[in-house]
Amino acid sequence: MRAASQAQPNIALVKYWGKRDAALNLPVVGSLSITLESLWTRTDVRFVPGQQGDRVSLNGRSDEAEAKRISKCLDLLRACAGVDYGAEVASRNNFPTAAGLASSASGFAALVHAGARALGLELSLAEQSVLARRCSGSAARSIFGGYVEWAHGKLADGTDSVARPLLDAEAWPLRVAVAITSTAAKQVGSTEGMRRTAETSPYQSAWIETQEADLGVARDAIRARDFDALARISEYSCLKMHALALAAQPGLLYWNGATVECMHRVRALRQQGVPVFFTVDAGPQLKAVCAPSAIEQVKAALRDVPGVLEVLDTGLGEGARAIALDWVEA
Ligand code: DP6
Repeated sequence: MRAASQAQPNIALVKYWGKRDAALNLPVVGSLSITLESLWTRTDVRFVPGQQGDRVSLNGRSDEAEAKRISKCLDLLRACAGVDYGAEVASRNNFPTAAGLASSASGFAALVHAGARALGLELSLAEQSVLARRCSGSAARSIFGGYVEWAHGKLADGTDSVARPLLDAEAWPLRVAVAITSTAAKQVGSTEGMRRTAETSPYQSAWIETQEADLGVARDAIRARDFDALARISEYSCLKMHALALAAQPGLLYWNGATVECMHRVRALRQQGVPVFFTVDAGPQLKAVCAPSAIEQVKAALRDVPGVLEVLDTGLGEGARAIALDWVEA
């Protein structure tokens, strides 16, 4: 009745923003991402027959809002197994939580992976991806490693809105430098930001109409290992998502000054011939994706930007997997 799993955050290169069904968490667009390697969430789940309610510890603390979301996710697993046991959940991240670093993606991927095993459910990775999606959209992608696409899907029940791997991490081992420009939790979470955008941004329909073409370009770039093409489509998708959200009422401004300066530095490097591009999610951190040969130069350039607190560095990694129980608290 107990299992532990690890999953890593993923970073969307073609972004997910908007839901067509909030209850099933179905997206208005497909999306495409890379799963990271050295940032992780490790989660230990234990179901206790007879226990009422769940007890949740996140990085050694309890957080009521997060605990509620985790219980809803556990409810999906309990429904699959036909049980009503409460659970003890302990989860730990080795990176800042809730500041636009995709902690919900790795968090819910690890929770679904560990919870399913703890209940003895024999779920395929695709089935785990569907469950993770219902808890947080981007978590659908963290079930898999390397380059991953999460499909929009056609079915009303959402069972085909699932992620699938496109290419292994080792097949095109890009690196990612993450410039941390703030460790504060973001003011408007993705779920609320998406709702506000859909209700008020005049660009919502253009966003939806142009996504399929962007996904095609990104898939082709990955298939051909064409860095320049992937750089162009990724920066385009990132800036388009932020333009969409900036035009909401009130506008969603996830960047700070250092985020913007990092974008300029990355573009200046690329103009000098360094293979690097940026992407930014619903928070102020900037992720610079580059060829392995460029990582030290990219890190040095980002560290030099006033307001950058720290630069993390990671390769691309695997999907969710089982770990030893004592790894969670280790
Ligand atoms: C900007 O997956 O956190 O990172 O489904 O409401 O939990 P919910 O949203 P979430 O949104 C991620 C948005 C993004 C873009 C992306 O990862 O594709």
